[in-house]
Amino acid sequence: MRILKSSFAVVERRAEHAVKFFYSHLFWHNPGVRDLFPVSSEDMERQRDRLFAALTHVISRLDGDDETLGPYLRDLGRDHRKFLVRPEHYAVVGSSMLAALAETSGEAWTPQVEKAWTEAYQVIADAMLAGADASEDPPWWDAEVVRHLQYGQDIGVLTLRPHAPFPYLPGQYASVSSDRVPRTWRTYSIGNAPRPDGTVDLHVSRIDHGRLSTALVRETRPGEVLRLGAAGGQLTFRRSDRPVSLIAAGTGWAPIRAMLEELADRPPDQDVRLFVVARDCAHLYDRPLIDAYGSSCGWLDVTYITPAPGRHRNEATERLATALSNRGLWPDQDVYLSGPAQFIDDTARLLEDLGARPGRLFHDSVPAAAEHGQGGRPLGFAEWLLNRPAPHWHNPSARAPREH
Ligand code: HEM
Repeated sequence: MRILKSSFAVVERRAEHAVKFFYSHLFWHNPGVRDLFPVSSEDMERQRDRLFAALTHVISRLDGDDETLGPYLRDLGRDHRKFLVRPEHYAVVGSSMLAALAETSGEAWTPQVEKAWTEAYQVIADAMLAGADASEDPPWWDAEVVRHLQYGQDIGVLTLRPHAPFPYLPGQYASVSSDRVPRTWRTYSIGNAPRPDGTVDLHVSRIDHGRLSTALVRETRPGEVLRLGAAGGQLTFRRSDRPVSLIAAGTGWAPIRAMLEELADRPPDQDVRLFVVARDCAHLYDRPLIDAYGSSCGWLDVTYITPAPGRHRNEATERLATALSNRGLWPDQDVYLSGPAQFIDDTARLLEDLGARPGRLFHDSVPAAAEHGQGGRPLGFAEWLLNRPAPHWHNPSARAPREH
């Protein structure tokens, strides 16, 4: 295992080269495999990052007794079926990966290193193949768009009716694909608890230059059929006898809304505090519904965090910090956080400073790439408020949604 880790450290330093070599090798020797991947170079870059993130994740856990690795690989294998990956592809990907590792490692590529990588790839591939084989779910669910609401230019709420029962828990997200942008899959939050009629609301923030999110928010119409991959995510409600705080920003509101629906169905004994953060008080999408919850649920206390009218939106940062410090009692709370990755990181840090217990802070790591500022740098909290981030977490141009 030491061999793998030190070899991976060498490769990581030349990750870009390694990945380019890998894909050139793979597509040159297996031209048909190119058709499985998205077309644009932007997507290929994302793929490079995800592949390396996955490899880093796996390599750092292979030797330990990390119990999350088995389920991670099982689900990854199950989910690869929606990319139309077949069992025989694993061998060709494996040989291109070994070729890329050898090329990138130079003199560090010894017979022992080669043996260690060959075995590690086999362990990973076997676990993914077993996951694909054991899954009773379909590779994807076809789902018809039955309603399309557009809030301003950049937020869409799409109601879908899956053709077969689609299992998920309140707070989870689903990956989505549309024929409008073939072979591209992105994750979006589900904004409701399971309903008797099986319909699902997806909340989509449009990302500048994001082809799928733009198609979903601005172009998709009722009657179209999308594909849904299996639901995922850990932001699900843990019942406990502790009071609860829910903190949401942008379409981070979607999973919180789903959890609120679940709570409203079986009202809790404890109080629930809801903080909804927006950079502009006129443009909180879904505000009427939040107000309705606030007035009909005695156990719910709603705080909106926005800048004062006419003030710079950066003020929302300070206001959130002040509101959280004023409310206190953080060590007693279960806290659920949802929003852009940097928002989650910064708010979690602030809450820990205020005494919240790390084991009682629940959040998902929001799928990456969309959460980065210009040049792919992560945004700082203040920077994130100052510069218009993507996806947009506010509705800049309209109060009422347009229904298509
Ligand atoms: C060791 C084996 C593998 C690992 C660790 C791995 C890892 C990953 C990861 C982490 C993703 C991103 C998943 C997501 O966004 O939901 C992904 C996507 C993908 N993988 Fe794999 N994969 C493996 C094998 C394969 C094989 C054998 C193929 C077949 C050619 C393949 C084709 C794809 C495709 C087409 C995508 C989607 C690309 C995109 O959305 O840009 N993978 N893989």
